Amino acid sequence: LERSLVIIKPDGYRRGLTGEVLRRIEAKGYTIAKLQVTEATRDQLDAHYAEHEGKPFYEPLVEFMSSGPIVVAVIEGNDCIKGFRSLAGATNPTEAAPGSIRGDLGRDWGLKVQQNIVHGSDSTESAEREIAIWF
Ligand code: GTP
Ligand code: MG
Repeated sequence: LERSLVIIKPDGYRRGLTGEVLRRIEAKGYTIAKLQVTEATRDQLDAHYAEHEGKPFYEPLVEFMSSGPIVVAVIEGNDCIKGFRSLAGATNPTEAAPGSIRGDLGRDWGLKVQQNIVHGSDSTESAEREIAIWF
């Protein structure tokens, strides 16, 4: 049974989109196995986003992810990693297809980092690594 780590980022939480995102995950048929509202620590974010360290958007990204509560979830279901990334849509919400979370609910806010509502793991290795960081 595949697992993925999903985060509702501070913009999603602030905008009251937690229920809408969880609704889409459940409507798709995935199980919410773990769920928590928390505030990310610097150590958690450095570990979670290690692959992006040094990129121009890294500090803005960590700052943004520290700007308020987030919702962290483990979801389960066959091929849910690919399936959730499809539900989420493209990284850039302007380009994300309508029908996806980012395409329907996100936009460009003119900021230094793309505020795109959700995170989803991109491989089974990242999923297990990320779940260990947050749970
Ligand atoms: P996540 O599910 O959040 O990991 O998104 P992703 O896998 O679609 O994107 P990626 O892992 O490449 O980047 C992580 C996050 O960094 C993104 O979700 C954005 O918030 C931000 N980001 C990534 N690429 C860019 C970029 O080119 N410019 C800016 N400003 N932000 C970016
Ligand atoms: Mg990613």
